[in-house]
Amino acid sequence: MSTLFFYTKQQFFNFKSTQTAEGFEFLSMSKLLSSQRIDELDECQQYYVDISSMVALVIADDSQLLNFEQLCGSFGGNITFICDKAYEADTKYLLRNVFDDFSDVEAESDETLAEKEEMLSTKPDSVKKITNLDDSELKSFFENFNTRLYGHERFKKEFKELVNSFRVFNRLGEHKILSLFLMGDSGVGKTEVARSIHKALGSKAKLAKINFGNYSSHDALNSLIGSPLGYIGSDGGELLKRVHESDVGLILIDEFEKADNAVFNYFLDVLENGKIVNSQAEEYDVSGYIIVFTSNITKENFKSKISPELRSRFDYKGMFNLLTDVDKKKFVHFRVNQIISKYREFVSADIPDKLHDNVVAEIDVPRYTNMRDLNKKIKDTFVSLIKT
Ligand SMILES: Nc1ncnc2c1ncn2[C@@H]1O[C@H](COP(=O)(O)OP(=O)(O)O)[C@@H](O)[C@H]1O
Ligand SMILES: [Mg+2]
Repeated sequence: MSTLFFYTKQQFFNFKSTQTAEGFEFLSMSKLLSSQRIDELDECQQYYVDISSMVALVIADDSQLLNFEQLCGSFGGNITFICDKAYEADTKYLLRNVFDDFSDVEAESDETLAEKEEMLSTKPDSVKKITNLDDSELKSFFENFNTRLYGHERFKKEFKELVNSFRVFNRLGEHKILSLFLMGDSGVGKTEVARSIHKALGSKAKLAKINFGNYSSHDALNSLIGSPLGYIGSDGGELLKRVHESDVGLILIDEFEKADNAVFNYFLDVLENGKIVNSQAEEYDVSGYIIVFTSNITKENFKSKISPELRSRFDYKGMFNLLTDVDKKKFVHFRVNQIISKYREFVSADIPDKLHDNVVAEIDVPRYTNMRDLNKKIKDTFVSLIKT
């Protein structure tokens, strides 16, 4: 007599992979019976025998119960019985004379499996894409985008033309994804382009972002789309996860030059087919999406690093330069006002006279060749002046 263990659907694959790693072999009852393997079982091997199918049979036709009771009694101690928890209530009653105890397997439940199923059923219809906006939504998208992103006027103009064409040809099935490849020094606003699109599309969720600077290079593709099926701990990959979490049709790929050839080829496919496919063959339709790739490489390295096929796939390739002093000044005014109004709202309405002008006066704009440093200087100056 023995214990019957129940597993849930979310636990099963985790359970199976950890137990297999520990040397257990899994057999289903029907397989065992049809191949007459009972006599052939190795006495030194530990087995899990899944009786779910047998239980389903007994529930439907309890005249099978006698056979089943006899059968279970004929196994040795190297067998542990398991069963789908969906049958728990019926099983406990019907097999009350077969097992002396009932319990649950100990295994992490695969939350991502449940989450994924849920997300797949709610998406992708609810995703807000540039291709789905009506004319007035599109107008306010551009207004919003253009005020968020300072300077980069030429890019803004080209971006608008690209979007207008994309909206037409995406509908004709000829242009799946709008891809932007932004190069240039650090801190000039490349990533800010994606943040601004994200906000202008009205997202209330996290930006779907992959940063290849965070990946170790030799298994970048595995991190991105998951390791091949059957590997212990294999998952669906970060890309699909991030895309599922987002509510708008935008993906940011930061520090793209740090990826490897396998990844480059993968994205060539994505841009061509408008689909994200992971190692477990799950597909997600990303037609109508914008993908922003950013990179710190120079124009020369761009050619040696990225294949001609992929280069020609990008709809926009451009160098981002540091904002002009005029635009930097506009940025400073805007940031200082923004900080002051937040401070009023969250901290105190009591601020020194002429705070805005005094902060601005202390910042020597032309000195800054990186917007991150400029932003830090604005913050530091604000803090020093609010204290006195
Ligand atoms: N053109 C810009 N308009 C508004 N903010 C900007 C702009 N450029 C840079 N910033 C600000 O400067 C910081 C660095 O910019 P970021 O886009 O992250 O740089 P990178 O080019 O390295 O991706 C960000 O915090 C961003 O808010
Ligand atoms: Mg960046």
